Amino acid sequence: MKKVAILISGRGSNMMSLVEASGDAYQVVVVASDKPGAAGLDWAREHAIATFALSPMKIGKPTYEAALDGALRESGAEVIALAGYMRLLSDDFVAKWRGSILNIHPSLLPKYKGLDTHARAIAAGDRQAGCSVHVVTEELDGGEVLGQAEVAVEPGDTAETLAARVLAAEHRLYPQVLAGYCAR
Ligand code: GRF
Repeated sequence: MKKVAILISGRGSNMMSLVEASGDAYQVVVVASDKPGAAGLDWAREHAIATFALSPMKIGKPTYEAALDGALRESGAEVIALAGYMRLLSDDFVAKWRGSILNIHPSLLPKYKGLDTHARAIAAGDRQAGCSVHVVTEELDGGEVLGQAEVAVEPGDTAETLAARVLAAEHRLYPQVLAGYCAR
């Protein structure tokens, strides 16, 4: 069974879905964050999952990433799942874990890389929005797409109402795709 590390920056609802759906497909060995106050860390601790939290603010990105890399290696993680991790990993870090980092992004990639995806989909008049799980490369939201889920844009949708439905789809999609990835 593949060992998975999950990186979060905030509430961690995708992380919770990944943990709850892990079953025999993969084992979550650590939840790590660049935000020591991230709400999801408390949830992970309550579920007896090891955590690692360190802010890059005072120590700088290279020192932060070296410590993160060390903690992930020590945990035995073979795969890294980014789940609302709001920081760009350096090219060096991506190269060290090449092909082993996944991310969930709230758009139908290659559309709407970056931020404000839901507002951009609504402004464009799209009928379908959704989410994608992709391999992380040096290019922002640019790696191979492993799976997508479509969500209809409803008349009167705001970025918030659409985001809530896409988030529910993320919670279904990410565990499925991660399980498939870990099985290959
Ligand atoms: C999700 O919308 C995800 O697609 C994006 O950031 C949000 C994270 O939410 N990358 P959560 O922390 O998993 O609740």
